[in-house]
Amino acid sequence: MDAPPRTTHRAELGSRALFPDLAARSYLNHAAISPASLAVREQAKAVLDDYARGGLAGLEAWLPQKARLKETLAALLGGGVRGEDLGFVPNTTAGVVQVAFSLPWERGDRVVLFEGEFPANVTPWQQAAELFGLELVWVPLAPFYESVEAGLAATERALAGGARLVAVSAVEFQTGLRMPVEALGGLAHRHGAELFVDAIQGLGVVPLDVAEVDYVACGGHKWLMGLEGAGFLYVDPAAAARMVPRLAGWLGHEDALSFLFQGAGHLRYDRPLRHEASVVEQGAPNHVGLAALEASVDLIQQLGVEAIFAHVSAFHDRLEPQLVERGFTSKRAADPRARSGSLCVLPPEGVELGALKAALVEQGVDVTMPDGHLRFAPHWPNALEEVEWVVEAVDGAMGSGTR
Ligand SMILES: Cc1ncc(COP(=O)(O)O)c(C=O)c1O
Repeated sequence: MDAPPRTTHRAELGSRALFPDLAARSYLNHAAISPASLAVREQAKAVLDDYARGGLAGLEAWLPQKARLKETLAALLGGGVRGEDLGFVPNTTAGVVQVAFSLPWERGDRVVLFEGEFPANVTPWQQAAELFGLELVWVPLAPFYESVEAGLAATERALAGGARLVAVSAVEFQTGLRMPVEALGGLAHRHGAELFVDAIQGLGVVPLDVAEVDYVACGGHKWLMGLEGAGFLYVDPAAAARMVPRLAGWLGHEDALSFLFQGAGHLRYDRPLRHEASVVEQGAPNHVGLAALEASVDLIQQLGVEAIFAHVSAFHDRLEPQLVERGFTSKRAADPRARSGSLCVLPPEGVELGALKAALVEQGVDVTMPDGHLRFAPHWPNALEEVEWVVEAVDGAMGSGTR
């Protein structure tokens, strides 16, 4: 059966035409949750309409879309990744959990983590450490704030003691620091370790190269601009061959569906589990979320991540100096290699962050305050002119009792 049609909407840098109902004057929360574009809404509705008309026939109509979306996501990842090396998971965490519980661990294996990471990329490793007797080794992020080279040197010191895996976020959620994923992959491999990347704060806005990465987990609702509940896990084929799929479900077997469609005699419980990324697809998929994700990634691909990153960087180039002038401390890296889609700042002394953020939201500037930082996270639909509204809102907020 042919896959259903893709979105026909066109994205334009700096245009909100596909977001007619977006309430905020300046929506800067793409590092948290993206608003749904018309493309996303229409593709999600198309799935619902097909299910409304046909039930199971709706599912059958959307099954072929899954392989097509994998190809699209693989192209976004670059690095020679193939669609068949991806499996769909509900969110980033589910991808981390899958890897943490499916490696052929040996007691005493060391896992290198980074202090200050979002907990999604910590909790599953802690749980696996308890179950499999692993040792967690923590690298501070401070050297990465100094320079890429200092960060890599600190990681190398941790790797020198031996390690099975390094787990890192492509971009740190609270400061927007981009981690040197490619170099970390090379370093890990030289020390006999694998690299796991939580890509949700980078993929879709920051050019990434995953050629040296063994595992990538990513939810779809932030910079990929899809909905919650649909994400993916990439597993390098050599790593997939080694994995022990301890968390597999009924869809993880070879010929998993044959007993439903090929008549009697196919119901068996001894079919081998697939040694490929799709083994993480445990049960019924989220077709609405996957259709929405395809639509949002199609828009990103129309523009190209390089162009989106240049656009978002121009936004921050305008905003950052005006915030610094007003006494904010910017956490944006001086080194362009370490910059991302998020500009994060600390408020001037005496300014209460919660009150400041609330006053900005009140004025139509939607921002968040992760771990004590004020985070500005624009994406392709934000116009550069919005920077002036943001600055006006900051001035208004600072003058309205946030101290
Ligand atoms: C770095 C990072 N990883 C993971 C997540 C979320 O993970 P999940 O997709 O499982 O909700 C976030 C933010 O919500 C994040 O900033």
